[in-house]
Amino acid sequence: MPSELEHVSGLPLGSFRSEHVAQQVQRAFRREQVASEECLVRVLRRDHEARRRFRRSVAISHGAMFRDPEQFTLVEEVLLPRLLAGGKRVSVWSAGCADGAELHTLAVVLARLGVLERSVLLGSDLLEENLALARSADYPDHVRARVRWERRDLTADGPPPGRWRLILCRNVAIYLSPAARRRVYATLVSALTARGVLLLGRSERLIDPGALGLRPVGPHAYERLP
Ligand SMILES: C[S@@+](CC[C@H](N)C(=O)[O-])C[C@H]1O[C@@H](n2cnc3c(N)ncnc32)[C@H](O)[C@@H]1O
Repeated sequence: MPSELEHVSGLPLGSFRSEHVAQQVQRAFRREQVASEECLVRVLRRDHEARRRFRRSVAISHGAMFRDPEQFTLVEEVLLPRLLAGGKRVSVWSAGCADGAELHTLAVVLARLGVLERSVLLGSDLLEENLALARSADYPDHVRARVRWERRDLTADGPPPGRWRLILCRNVAIYLSPAARRRVYATLVSALTARGVLLLGRSERLIDPGALGLRPVGPHAYERLP
């Protein structure tokens, strides 16, 4: 049964690792100067800013342009050239996009390769407030025209329509429970085209990619078997 904290925060707390939630609750106690979950619930109910702080901290909502740059080098020099062989258009989904910096970095890379104009980019996130930041970021019109943002809970909502040739899901699953993580990976794989590539964060790897119909093609990168 959903807890009061889950209800008042509007977050699927059961999808996150329990130790992660416990740690974030302790931090919220200190931040909001309360001593019990009951008091925290009261604060979150009446204080919109405290609720926002709690949601963003549990969901670990930060991103940065070219975060873990070696991963974008891999994307630019290895993964995208493979996907582009044959001149097809590229569709990229940043699953758990936070404030959109990851997807905008991809747009920079695609522009450098001269293929942004024939690319489709989607950023999705659990938190509408993160998407609001992504939407309001100051990016040139030719980037803005290629990018779409939508709210999506990867543990419950399933994949967006269509198939994606490159999916980035970095630093999202590490905070999730094992069961939620399995659901997320199944969702991501089902959204990949044959030979499409899933890129995880630099501290994430799949224990048995073959069981998901994937094979490794680089550090933290997996290709869907045809
Ligand atoms: C640490 S950020 C990662 C941002 C970006 N992928 C990167 O690595 O720079 C994690 C993001 O995952 C999102 N997230 C957490 N649980 C999610 C879920 N169940 N469905 C969709 N997004 C989720 C959070 O809101 C947050 O924006």
